[in-house]
Amino acid sequence: MSSLVNLTRHLLHENTYSRESLELANIINQLVLAAKLVSREVTKAGLVDILGATGEINVQQEEVQKLDVFANTTFIELLKQSPYVKAVGSEEVSDIVVFNQAHHQHSEYIVHLDPLDGCSNIDVNVSVGTNFVIFRRVSKGKKLTKADYLQAGKQAVCAGYFVYGSSTMLVYSTGGGVHGFTLDPSIGEFILSHERLQLPEASTIYSINESYYPKWGQKFRGYVDNLKKDKNTKGKIRTARYIGSLVADFHRNLLKGGIFLYPADKKHPNGKLRLLYEGIPFAYLIKQAGGYASNGQEDVLEIVPKKLHQRIPLFIGNTKDVKEAEKYL
Ligand code: AHG
Ligand code: MN
Ligand code: MN
Repeated sequence: MSSLVNLTRHLLHENTYSRESLELANIINQLVLAAKLVSREVTKAGLVDILGATGEINVQQEEVQKLDVFANTTFIELLKQSPYVKAVGSEEVSDIVVFNQAHHQHSEYIVHLDPLDGCSNIDVNVSVGTNFVIFRRVSKGKKLTKADYLQAGKQAVCAGYFVYGSSTMLVYSTGGGVHGFTLDPSIGEFILSHERLQLPEASTIYSINESYYPKWGQKFRGYVDNLKKDKNTKGKIRTARYIGSLVADFHRNLLKGGIFLYPADKKHPNGKLRLLYEGIPFAYLIKQAGGYASNGQEDVLEIVPKKLHQRIPLFIGNTKDVKEAEKYL
């Protein structure tokens, strides 16, 4: 029984029961409750009327799925209950959502999230997830400022994701390594299953949507051609794996070693993925796991966001691979 470590116990113990860890534990518990509700809906999808589009277009000019809406509302409502969360930035909401209720007077944390990542996979029973990053505000005044919610990833105090796959998992870090927890549905608890995850040294996978090949520049095409011929540190040719849910692609590559690439192209001149809730959470985690994330020029964790829904090209995985990719960008 003593070897059974649940999330709260792990987080508090790892951070020596500091005040900040107690506050983070409260926030993460709210995220966990929301994730359990989303996980329940995901597993019921097909039986209940939760599949398909709502008929609306979101702030990113993308079709909104019913599960996107459910996840967004659930995460925001549950975070609102935490006295420590001052504001939430969500992919599905154009502006930062600031909480002004009495119990938020002294709240200091900002949570950015992608409530449902991989929406094109909802209807086909393929893994989706939720990505998040937590910052502590920097200004002291009553009013939240842009400097509070547009911080560089290196300032984050916690990052993680839930993946709703063949099992539901939470992977998180508060700066002391990356840890994975698996939801045991029989007791409704996330139990430590992957302690101190480190990227395997051999990078065996490359993940990219190659249908955009004609839209890439010449140099980058050459790089991807080489990637296929190039042997990894184990002397093996890489294999291609691409799910189309960043969270699931990242999770697999974290466990198996590899590089995920989403460059800028003619269709996406600034890249497609969003810095705050797709780039930063994974960049934070990959660094903790011994890897590296770049926008092609610099470390993703160094970029100070200019706006909430800013997009970036993303290259993330084993450091050696990402550094090599940077040469072609
Ligand atoms: P979201 O479902 O939150 O809009 O994100 C989708 C993202 C990401 O999860 C995935 O890696 C990427 O879009 C896939 O894009 P392509 O279909 O262009 O490959
Ligand atoms: Mn996403
Ligand atoms: Mn999304």
